[in-house]
Amino acid sequence: MAAGHKSLPLDDLYRGIQSDLNDVESRLREISASSNPLIAEVNRYLFQKGGKRIRPALLILSAKMCGYKGADHVFWSALVEIIHTASLIHDDIVDNSTLRRGQDTVHAKWGANISVLLGDFLYIQSIALALKTKIYPLIDLLADVTVAMVEGELIEFSMSGRADLSEEVYLEILDKKTAALFSCACRIGGLLAGISPGQQEKLHEFGTSLGLAFQIVDDLLDFKGEEKSMGKPVLSDFREGRITLPLIHAVSAAQGRDRARLVELIENRKTRSDAPRQVRDIVLAAGGLDSAYERAADYVRKAKESLAEFPATEHRQSLERIADLVLQRNA
Ligand code: FPP
Ligand code: MG
Repeated sequence: MAAGHKSLPLDDLYRGIQSDLNDVESRLREISASSNPLIAEVNRYLFQKGGKRIRPALLILSAKMCGYKGADHVFWSALVEIIHTASLIHDDIVDNSTLRRGQDTVHAKWGANISVLLGDFLYIQSIALALKTKIYPLIDLLADVTVAMVEGELIEFSMSGRADLSEEVYLEILDKKTAALFSCACRIGGLLAGISPGQQEKLHEFGTSLGLAFQIVDDLLDFKGEEKSMGKPVLSDFREGRITLPLIHAVSAAQGRDRARLVELIENRKTRSDAPRQVRDIVLAAGGLDSAYERAADYVRKAKESLAEFPATEHRQSLERIADLVLQRNA
């Protein structure tokens, strides 16, 4: 069994929306079925129950918190999850990642050529399905979020190995590559329920803050997690030259010779096999993990505050608990 959502204790939280989530699974299987044997095989591999399904849960809970009584949230949740899946296929190629959720990535199994095409296929298939609904405000959201995600990945890649990456640009990368889709899922839920622009803004704030916290925790786990529970190697972001918040904090805390040594290790990470461990030790000693965790906790607080004006239903409570759980993630 892949690591799946066991990395977060979501079972209790998901109980209230379990039948909707089951419907999302059926919809995913239906949409990803294909008469083409290769597409069908890769899709079976991708959509087996391995993911946390956080984005569908956010969409469903947002819709219900806002009073939505229809059934279309299942379809839109499936589309959001497909876009997320497509983005991970491409991201694993960009990041040279061969393991995800404890399993071979698509490009490790089928090669990069097929993976690029499969990612394209899934993405455009979800947009084509969305277009059939003719609900243009929702289609706009899906198209815009993908533009933001690609831009986020591009900025991140172009800043690889740059020890001078600022916290501001780091947060811009996270906002675009991760938080935008969290926000999009919440806002689709709100739009389905027909909420006011003011409430939409609050859902946007909630999704964005939650997404930023989620990705900061993901980034600090690269320094601190265990390969076995993570389902992917530790320090792999560092090896690929990704400059993340714990490292940014360590670089700014270091002075003089220490700073020069850190920069030298980052620059020579490919040739010095001891660089990842050494950098990890420096980051730990500089308190880079604690300060990054504090920043994630700030975003979780902000996320929960954004929900204050919504009715205090069990669904709002679940959204708040998802935010708290992000901080407890250990894989
Ligand atoms: C994971 O980040 C990746 C993302 C959050 C977004 C990836 C987006 C794209 C590749 C562009 C969109 C493309 C399509 C086809 C929709 P990470 O590498 O920090 O996290 P990881 O450790 O889970 O890999
Ligand atoms: Mg990656």
